[in-house]
Amino acid sequence: MNLILMGLPGAGKGTQAEKINETYDIPHISTGDMFRLAIKEGTELGKQAKSFMDQGNLVPDEVTIGIVKERLAKDDCKDGFLLDGFPRTIAQAEALQQLLTEMNEKIDYVIHVNVPKDKLVERLTGRRVCPTCGATYHVLYNPPKQEGVCDKDGSKLDQRDDDTEETVKNRLKINIEQSQPLLDFYKEKNYLVDVNGDQDINQVFKDIQAILD
Ligand code: AP5
Ligand code: ZN
Repeated sequence: MNLILMGLPGAGKGTQAEKINETYDIPHISTGDMFRLAIKEGTELGKQAKSFMDQGNLVPDEVTIGIVKERLAKDDCKDGFLLDGFPRTIAQAEALQQLLTEMNEKIDYVIHVNVPKDKLVERLTGRRVCPTCGATYHVLYNPPKQEGVCDKDGSKLDQRDDDTEETVKNRLKINIEQSQPLLDFYKEKNYLVDVNGDQDINQVFKDIQAILD
């Protein structure tokens, strides 16, 4: 199954991707995670991406398309993949179409996790992430058993650098501008399915499962 998860920052793409990956065993490809790893490791890619991400701006298309192309060529994507946070511009969507044609593959569903914009600032500023395993929590909506500590491995939870209120506002503005043309692009191709992301995390996942099963 070849899937794309779309949604504004904080809609719950990463949260649902984790569940889809566990249940359907499809590799989770998050461009944001790939950039964050590159920054942590201090690679050339990380240096290129950092200034854009710190401001909440998009990383240039040629850089982003390049890393996705490399990732999709890996063996574990032969039986399907789950793209999270890519494509985010029409140029990226067109590059992906071309790439899939070359691979003799097609997209099965573009799942749009839809959440009212006014809920997203709170979701992002309250997010906490585990630096060891990448698990995502929320101080109110998905708290760990012990405050500030990962349930899975006991690591101390962090806040993402771009989850400050100021950067969040810019991320939302930019992503709102980019998202409608992309939604129209996939609607026209009949790939788009809307899911109500403004419900309990497990209910959102049940709605996604109803589409995939
Ligand atoms: P990226 O990492 O993709 O960030 P994003 O799109 O801004 O999305 P988030 O990861 O912030 O949100 P999410 O939807 O995954 O929400 P989550 O599940 O964590 O990108 C970061 C940056 O990298 C970009 O700004 C850009 O610079 C660059 N980049 C990445 N891809 C790019 C591309 N293709 N082109 C160019 N640049 C790119 O949930 C959020 C919070 O809400 C959590 O705390 C969670 O616990 C909570 N939550 C989740 N679901 C629910 C629910 N149903 N109810 C209540 N709370 C919930
Ligand atoms: Zn952890």
